[in-house]
Amino acid sequence: MEILVTGGAGFIGSHTLIALIHAGYTPIVIDNLCNANPIVLDRVAEITGVRPRLYEKDIRDRGALRTIFEEHTIEAVIHFAGLKAVGESTEIPLEYYQNNVTGTLVLCEEMRRAGVFRLVFSSSATVYGDPETVPIPETARTTATNPYGRSKLFIEEILRDLVASDDRWGVVLLRYFNPVGAHPSGRIGEDPKGIPNNLLPYITQVAVGKLKELAVFGDDYETADGTGVRDYIHILDLADGHVKALKRVDSDKGVFTYNLGTGTGYSVLEMVKAFEEASGARIPYRIAPRRPGDIAACFAHPERARKEMGWEAVRGLQEMMRDAWAWQSQNPDGYPESSD
Ligand code: NAD
Ligand code: UFG
Repeated sequence: MEILVTGGAGFIGSHTLIALIHAGYTPIVIDNLCNANPIVLDRVAEITGVRPRLYEKDIRDRGALRTIFEEHTIEAVIHFAGLKAVGESTEIPLEYYQNNVTGTLVLCEEMRRAGVFRLVFSSSATVYGDPETVPIPETARTTATNPYGRSKLFIEEILRDLVASDDRWGVVLLRYFNPVGAHPSGRIGEDPKGIPNNLLPYITQVAVGKLKELAVFGDDYETADGTGVRDYIHILDLADGHVKALKRVDSDKGVFTYNLGTGTGYSVLEMVKAFEEASGARIPYRIAPRRPGDIAACFAHPERARKEMGWEAVRGLQEMMRDAWAWQSQNPDGYPESSD
């Protein structure tokens, strides 16, 4: 069964390709490579024995989408493609809305034209803003504090309107918490451009000596040790969630919203300690001011995904750290620029 994966060469997409192949699907990738390296597909082939077909195209390119839908029998679409840097989104909001929102509109129009009505969309826990309570259920109020988050909220609303208007659609909105780790082979992983914004890639780059020390953004939050608490989820668990989501809309129509998180929150200092234990490396850190826009604690109520999709995260913190380290230590500079 052929599945179109937009943004399939990216961090979450590439790990999901492996999960799809292992589950017997044939993923077809469309990615404009604005934040990815095509070598990823060679690495996926090394791991699985299958090299997914890549269309190096933008999802806003209708002609490209039409070609793909004509050349393949696509049963469903998993839609990762988008821009994702919160800070950047405040500087270039138009590019974010254009890429994320317009990209999704074009994709849905071309899906409808091709008679493909099953869609799994990458949303984010960012739609909960600063939550009133944790753990956060899917029914919590949603809000956005930056253009990136607003693009996710807008897309969720657009997809709800679409489903309400046309009962042929089956749409799953997956709200990811904090994906970390890598495939245990260390062959694929997260390859941020420039200095990482996210905690774990920053820690692993300190460990390989690319960065001097970690700045811990605030130790005066209302959490057990004062540092920010998040729900870190192993990327392979997250990838499996997409396979379950596809099955969710095998026959059911409508719109379904699920948190993909573990339900457990860890603080920044707990993360540092766990990484040191798993890697044997020492992570020097200093306490720095709070990062604007950050919240104290964010972790999922993951029950709905378990009950309705039979999905739950099974990998623990040590596995996340071990696999993140396998990737970073084997690829200190990320993916090479040309095929190795
Ligand atoms: P990523 O940047 O690694 O992957 C996104 C991929 O989409 C990249 O390969 C990029 O080249 C491609 N892309 C971007 N715009 C495109 C376009 N217009 N046409 C074709 N390809 C395009 O990011 P990721 O971490 O794998 O995230 C995947 C999705 O999950 C994104 O939508 C992101 O917003 C969402 N998400 C990520 C996180 C996270 O922490 N990583 C959390 C919540 C939600
Ligand atoms: N942190 C540091 N130092 C760093 C980086 C992060 O102390 O150098 C702290 C943050 O203050 C926060 C925690 O580590 O307490 C996690 O920060 P991340 O940047 O890794 O993750 P966020 O929860 O802030 O944001 C991530 C994605 C967003 C997404 C959100 C919810 O980057 O795009 O998860 O899914 F919206």
